[in-house]
Amino acid sequence: MLGVDGFAIKLRTIICRCGDGSSKHALTLAIRLNTVQVWLMRLNGVQACGVISTPMTTTQLASLAWLATVENARRQAGLRRELRPREADSALIDLASNDYLGLVRHPDVIAGAQRALERWGAGATGSRLVTGTTTEHELLEDELAEFVGAQSGLVFSSGYTANLGAITALSGPGTLIVSDAGSHASIVDACRLSRARVVVAPHADVTAVDEALATRTEERALVVTDSVFSADGDLAPLHDLHRVCRDRGALLLVDEAHGIGVRGEGGRGLVHEYGLAGEPDLIVTATLSKSLASQGGAVLAAEEVRAHLIDAARTFIFDTGLAPAAVGAARAALAVLRREPQRAGDVLDRARELARYGGASVPESAVVSIILGDPQRAYDASVRCRELGVHVGCFRPPSVPEGTSRLRLTARASLTDSELVRIAAVLAEVLTDARDEAGR
Ligand SMILES: Cc1ncc(COP(=O)(O)O)c(C=O)c1O
Repeated sequence: MLGVDGFAIKLRTIICRCGDGSSKHALTLAIRLNTVQVWLMRLNGVQACGVISTPMTTTQLASLAWLATVENARRQAGLRRELRPREADSALIDLASNDYLGLVRHPDVIAGAQRALERWGAGATGSRLVTGTTTEHELLEDELAEFVGAQSGLVFSSGYTANLGAITALSGPGTLIVSDAGSHASIVDACRLSRARVVVAPHADVTAVDEALATRTEERALVVTDSVFSADGDLAPLHDLHRVCRDRGALLLVDEAHGIGVRGEGGRGLVHEYGLAGEPDLIVTATLSKSLASQGGAVLAAEEVRAHLIDAARTFIFDTGLAPAAVGAARAALAVLRREPQRAGDVLDRARELARYGGASVPESAVVSIILGDPQRAYDASVRCRELGVHVGCFRPPSVPEGTSRLRLTARASLTDSELVRIAAVLAEVLTDARDEAGR
């Protein structure tokens, strides 16, 4: 007999009232449910039986058994991913993060987050359309828009949701979307969600984009691309893309996640560098999680576009507003960048150094890719770098195409000369081994 308390704390318990005071009914039920324990007890003076089911394992459940099969396939292909613990004050040299300007621990940025946290609390408490918008959010929107030369800004909870919200709200059934084959996953997902017809154009192929626009049957069209591609760090042909969009009556949406803080005068981004800032048919999306050392995203565009997104972007309407501390941190990081614009140039200088050590081509952004081909070789090389004190990224399919698995290094404005010396030595050792193995 089990006490009521002991009985109650068992999970997945079914209690059946037993007319004959025995556990016969419960046993029958237990056998039918493939469970093993049956308890007899008295609840409020009534004789009752309980069946305590034991949780089934994932392999026993047909609905989950496939997970083992796909996990095994990924393991065989060298594509398992691991979450490793991170230390707060790691001694590793960081070439894996997107903290391009080295601002994530800048005292002003921390103080900016703290001020906003103390004034507005830990969370935004709801969608800004429901609980109201803070002055902190509005100031960030104005400051970001002014910085990149756009008319207005709208902050989202991430760069991912900024792309989802903007692309879906600016397209839909009856629209053609033309997306570069190298577009970021958030753009790919936005295209899938949009219910528009989607054409994936070969990477950086303006002729293919023009052709898709010229032969469309849809009245409206949207062309979407990264400005700086996240895997290879190369640049989109924005001048030509904007020209064909203008000629063909299409909007151009440019994701500046890796452009802001790195390209353009004082880090104003590639759109600004190419003299396209403020064009009404060009929409910029951005993340606050890379150069701006915080978290969140933004759409920077004409006033009319902003107004439309407030009405129609589902990831703005149905998502909790960006946390005040993240807004405060991003505002402070932007202020540091305005005060110290040379940080943008420093990132590119450091990236060129890294590329030289890794035998990669001259980079046009903070991203340096050292292609090793085989996913397991790339993974092993990244582990070896780590053991030798340098944390690098490892990109494998589906993040990059088959056969192009790589070490992905990201430059940081704050890398010191002694860190660069150490990185050169580590890369020389690891890459010699990896390439020898490839030659075998
Ligand atoms: C090109 C690009 N767009 C969008 C995002 C998403 O930004 P967030 O991390 O702020 O969601 C990323 C982030 O990795 C990115 O690289």
